[in-house]
Amino acid sequence: MRHFLSIDDLSMDQIETVLDWTKSIESGWQYCRSMNNKCISCFFAEPSTRTRFSFERAMHWLGGRVVTAADASTSSSLRKGESIKDTIRTLGQYSDAIVMRHPDPNWPEVAREYSRVPVINAGSGSGEHPTQALLDLHTIRQKWGKVGGLKVMLSGDMTNGRTVHSLIGLLHMYGCKIFYCPAKIVHGSSVEYLGLPEKYLRAQPCTMVEVECANDLLKDMDVIYMTRIQTERMATDGDMDIRYFAIDEKNVDLIKDEAAILHPLPRGKEISPLIDDDPRADYHERQVRNGLYVRTALLDYILYGNPIIAP
Ligand code: CP
Repeated sequence: MRHFLSIDDLSMDQIETVLDWTKSIESGWQYCRSMNNKCISCFFAEPSTRTRFSFERAMHWLGGRVVTAADASTSSSLRKGESIKDTIRTLGQYSDAIVMRHPDPNWPEVAREYSRVPVINAGSGSGEHPTQALLDLHTIRQKWGKVGGLKVMLSGDMTNGRTVHSLIGLLHMYGCKIFYCPAKIVHGSSVEYLGLPEKYLRAQPCTMVEVECANDLLKDMDVIYMTRIQTERMATDGDMDIRYFAIDEKNVDLIKDEAAILHPLPRGKEISPLIDDDPRADYHERQVRNGLYVRTALLDYILYGNPIIAP
């Protein structure tokens, strides 16, 4: 079964296959394998704009069909207490693959055990978001022509940010140097860092450095990857003061000209809209658009196996 539930589910060779196919798609090569007898279920029990729309558009582009639940937490039988296991087994009777988002970080393991059709993780609570990591990797390579050896700074909510959890896996695989700047919660005199959970602090070959003052490093970074503070996953109280690094018109010029500023979106206040038209700001167009290309290639790979790459 060819699931894509975690970034660890694809080898580097498989990732390269999907990204080669992505390049063929974005350069305009016409798709030649028919999906018109294939259907995917998009089952989203958390909100989404980019992930759901790009998966659905990708499947339409491939000539396939989609059945969808955009508000599955209220509109599906989850609301009546149906289990994830029963939900996944049901969806597998109606579709050739399932694209799923759900707040429980453990749902992918239920899918791995019980699904009889391939399942793609479109977000598992504060766990992983592996298709976002693939499109992030593709965007970084498009900008730099390479990935290995780049210096990448990750900033924001490292504890709950599923995109960074998956991206770190890929950056390790490709030998980047990672700097990460966690947001912090200040309660009076106590400071709690929204740091990386232990399981994502991987061993060599990648160097990982925690930084407190991101401004000092900006001039050396090749990629700056900002993330939102996921307050919906925190037990917030009125006294909580969340402090985080932000990019705005005052510090953006500390960043080198060739660098990529990325964000999985949606954003909070960590990137000022005043820098949206900066040539280094790649989050609105390049990164979002790549989501469509990468997910098109991935659906083809998941449903059919090795793609036919353009000559
Ligand atoms: N990046 C991302 O997952 O965006 P959505 O939540 O809009 O799908």
